[in-house]
Amino acid sequence: MDLTDAREKARERMKGACAVYKVCDGRADRLCQGIKYGKALGMGGAGKGASFTANVEALDRLHLKTRLICEHAEPQMKTSFLGQEVGFPIFCSSVSGVKISMGGAIGELEFFRAVIQGCKSAGTIAFVGDTAETFEDRPGVQAIREAGGWGVQIFKPREQKVLLRVIQEAQAAGAIAVGVDLDGAGSVAMGLKGQPVFRKSLNELKELVESTSLPFILKGITSEEDAAAALETGCKVVCVSNHGGRTLDSMPGVAEVLPRLVPILKGKVVVTADGGVRTGFDAFKMLALGADFVMAGREFIRAAIGGGAEGVVAEADFLFQDLRKAMIMTGCNSLSDIDGHVFT
Ligand SMILES: Cc1cc2nc3c(=O)[nH]c(=O)nc-3n(C[C@H](O)[C@H](O)[C@H](O)COP(=O)(O)O)c2cc1C
Repeated sequence: MDLTDAREKARERMKGACAVYKVCDGRADRLCQGIKYGKALGMGGAGKGASFTANVEALDRLHLKTRLICEHAEPQMKTSFLGQEVGFPIFCSSVSGVKISMGGAIGELEFFRAVIQGCKSAGTIAFVGDTAETFEDRPGVQAIREAGGWGVQIFKPREQKVLLRVIQEAQAAGAIAVGVDLDGAGSVAMGLKGQPVFRKSLNELKELVESTSLPFILKGITSEEDAAAALETGCKVVCVSNHGGRTLDSMPGVAEVLPRLVPILKGKVVVTADGGVRTGFDAFKMLALGADFVMAGREFIRAAIGGGAEGVVAEADFLFQDLRKAMIMTGCNSLSDIDGHVFT
């Protein structure tokens, strides 16, 4: 199964939810934007979809310059995330809700198995999300357990006592890390399903961080204020993300806010960035802006729904190959060479 096959299959299987366009940018005329009025969000963005589109546009505005007169070397892309070696610094973002958002062609557990096993085979890591739809079964935790712990569980910002309990389950499954998508506080669907979500105080976050021996992740940070507060919680990873533009409309693209947050976070916590990443070139730009790792959401969703674990391997390889090409073309031999000098 190659990526073209996986995308063709995804087009059939995600009918009504995602048209698998060549360019996935959340514009108003896209299928995913049109279906959400009065219905679930599907694959689209919140409101007019401006935050979704801004993610793509912020990356598109950045232009790269070639550096070809230099000693040739094979780019070194291996790195380590929280002590685990990975082949390259691009992960699958935590996503969830196959039935409610992705067309429902496969089950949630099957989906999580595909992203976790596919990323494992490709030498990288999948994060998994948390939805009201299947929370009671905890399919993400199960898929991580089945993979010998090779995955990261991100829970919604649920009631504190619920979080304290399920974090222990992720720990027992041997997960690499566990965390909370703070911007999940904007999820209306969770409340409608009787599973409310909340903003979290500094003390509540400290309590969560201290409750587990796993490294803790805070996902959904986009402001200087939250970045500074995140450092006080003791978390090990901050994911700079606007949830793919799905929780608050009219936000700047992640590639626009990342350079403001990197000086606050870099070197103190591991920094990941996601939002609008469709190719290895986009991932390269996020690295050059200062992210330690980059994640892709919608790209991996289509690959997993269309091609299962094989589709995910093909997607990971697609991202890897373009990241490698970007490094060759810009004179970068190692990940530490990737910085602002690559832009023109
Ligand atoms: C259908 C869908 C479901 C998502 N579910 C979750 C989730 O359960 N938990 C979470 O932390 N983020 C969730 N996200 C956000 C992703 O983790 C990620 O931040 C976003 O997809 C990145 O943008 P991109 O899709 O443009 O790559 C979801 C995104 C989509 C598109």
